[in-house]
Amino acid sequence: MPALGFGTLIPDPAVTITATRDALEAGFRHLDCAERYRNEREVGEALQAGLAAGGISRSDIFVTTKLWNTNHRPERVAPAFEASLDRLGLEYLDLYLIHTPFAFQPGDEQDPRDQSGGVVYDNEATLLDTWRAMESLVDHGRCRAIGLSDITLNELLRIYESARIKPAVVQVEAHPHLPETELLEFCIENGVVFLAFAPLGHGIRPGLLEDPVISAIAARVEKTTAQVLLAWAVQRGTALLTTPKTVARARENFDISMLPEDAFNEINRIQTRQRLNEVVKTGVPGFIARGK
Ligand SMILES: NC(=O)c1ccc[n+]([C@@H]2O[C@H](COP(=O)([O-])OP(=O)(O)OC[C@H]3O[C@@H](n4cnc5c(N)ncnc54)[C@H](OP(=O)(O)O)[C@@H]3O)[C@@H](O)[C@H]2O)c1
Repeated sequence: MPALGFGTLIPDPAVTITATRDALEAGFRHLDCAERYRNEREVGEALQAGLAAGGISRSDIFVTTKLWNTNHRPERVAPAFEASLDRLGLEYLDLYLIHTPFAFQPGDEQDPRDQSGGVVYDNEATLLDTWRAMESLVDHGRCRAIGLSDITLNELLRIYESARIKPAVVQVEAHPHLPETELLEFCIENGVVFLAFAPLGHGIRPGLLEDPVISAIAARVEKTTAQVLLAWAVQRGTALLTTPKTVARARENFDISMLPEDAFNEINRIQTRQRLNEVVKTGVPGFIARGK
């Protein structure tokens, strides 16, 4: 998996197409998608255009998409997978992830709610049941690897111990204000790829992009704060996802270089702790408007 991934959580369909095109042009070869983002068709369109323009072949690109919470029942996994593949216009996937460990009421409504506005969870399928159905996609050659997202170390351990095909990747929020060190250590020891989302703190300001330690290092090494944050993520052994929406930012975010050791260590010593996305606690994504 290329360490630098382009994330496609982009609400606007037209921007999804231009941003995906620009990311490919800037050099990104790893695309992170999801059924829940409701834009797999647009990502697929931009990807097919990039492939048709020449110079890039399917095997150069690493494509991930994710099974949504409403499709956790084992009999729903393969149809959800095939539907994603069809929208993306692909013959196979490089990686399929269970988007969150929370099963929601099965059906077409992605955000099922009861009368008081609470999420309707589904107790019929366990995460291990869903995992077994994911394993069978690999058995049938439909995807090359499977993994988990928005998962804690304890939940990962339970699946890891019972899995016939071990999770290849875990995708979680991680940045200097939420380093997830214990999970990272487990991943490194066991050959699981740790894939960090929100490496720029979702671009929220004030936030990571204005952290004084990061800003001072950026000035010292003559890089932008975004480039310093992305370099730190790669240097500590994670892959990452970032979502530039313009050509200039796609080029900026792809152009990272190693930080001097003292700068890397200074970032490791930052004490601020903040989780930005509560999805890991509820299965409800923090950044997708309800009902959309
Ligand atoms: N598994 C999950 O539950 C989950 C959850 C969230 C995200 N993800 C995945 O992770 C991907 C990345 O997450 P993320 O979007 O939060 O990543 P991020 O890189 O932390 O934040 C992206 C935001 O930062 C801003 N930005 C990008 N490049 C910048 C630069 N060079 N300088 C300053 N600001 C910059 C942009 O905001 P503006 O354009 O608004 O300025 C952009 O929307 C998503 O697209 C999705 O694929 C997964």
